[in-house]
Amino acid sequence: MKILITGGSGNLATELAKVLGKDYDLYAPAHSDLDITSPQEINRVFSRLNPDFVINAAAITDVDSCENQFTQALAVNGWGPFHLARACQQYQSIFVHFSTEMIFDGLKTTPYLETDRPNPILAYGLTKHIGEQNIQCVQCHYTIFRTSWLFGGSAPKFVNRFIEIAKQQPSVPVVYDQIGSPTYIRDIAVAINQYLQEPHPGIYHLVDSGQASRLDMARLIKKELSLDCELLPVSYEDLKIATYRPPHAVLDSLYKDKYSFLRLRPWEEAMREYLRGLKTDTPLS
Ligand SMILES: NC(=O)c1ccc[n+]([C@@H]2O[C@H](COP(=O)([O-])OP(=O)(O)OC[C@H]3O[C@@H](n4cnc5c(N)ncnc54)[C@H](OP(=O)(O)O)[C@@H]3O)[C@@H](O)[C@H]2O)c1
Repeated sequence: MKILITGGSGNLATELAKVLGKDYDLYAPAHSDLDITSPQEINRVFSRLNPDFVINAAAITDVDSCENQFTQALAVNGWGPFHLARACQQYQSIFVHFSTEMIFDGLKTTPYLETDRPNPILAYGLTKHIGEQNIQCVQCHYTIFRTSWLFGGSAPKFVNRFIEIAKQQPSVPVVYDQIGSPTYIRDIAVAINQYLQEPHPGIYHLVDSGQASRLDMARLIKKELSLDCELLPVSYEDLKIATYRPPHAVLDSLYKDKYSFLRLRPWEEAMREYLRGLKTDTPLS
């Protein structure tokens, strides 16, 4: 089985390659080797590879860049998936695409399910939502996985930034009033491996179970790593950052009973495993 993973040097793509590389014949070109905004480049790669599966992990994920460079964000997040879906249709490849909780407005106080109506507030969510819709316009076998608040991998995201600051400062302000679904990137890769054995088309929410604020995450990290800092709960508004962020961006799936690949462990358990790995790889003191 041949798999094409786009956005090959990205955080999720790298983790997918680690996990799937054991079982599949992978080609994971970086942006410089395959630009998903170019149908010609896509066609060149498909005609050479004729992939059984295509996993689109390419995107512009920086929320502020999407606001400031909307046209480019739309080309990559909105139209890139369309070009890939068209190629999948032509080559009979199964298309797997990643989307985000940011397609929702974050105003619902219970978890968002697959049946909830998207209402993106920010350019990032809007372009990702357009990408989802564009895929659905194409008659190909597609699966869209919406995920959220990924941690792990090599990108310096919240967890790594928090650890770094907590080692340097006696007190760290952490936001308590934004709630999400923290999800270990390794769990996503393992779930995708399971999904590939029996692919089901559709749109699914794929996140570790439970929900948390950034403060909840910081508390767990502090305890697990015995960090000697005080946590200062602050509201997102207190940070005086101009950009809106959805206050409640928790995902859950209606289909967990039906498909075992959607049943992920609690985020706390996944986070502990990730932190144990960090302790082994890079000692904190
Ligand atoms: N990270 C999260 O918390 C999160 C949450 C929910 C959903 N997701 C979704 O998960 C997917 C993967 O996210 P990630 O965290 O792995 O993002 P990432 O680390 O930013 O990786 C995205 C990759 O896409 C590449 N890329 C950008 N424009 C491209 C283009 N035109 N053609 C080909 N590649 C291009 C980037 O390469 P360059 O940097 O070289 O341009 C980068 O390597 C995305 O669809 C994202 O929306 C992520």
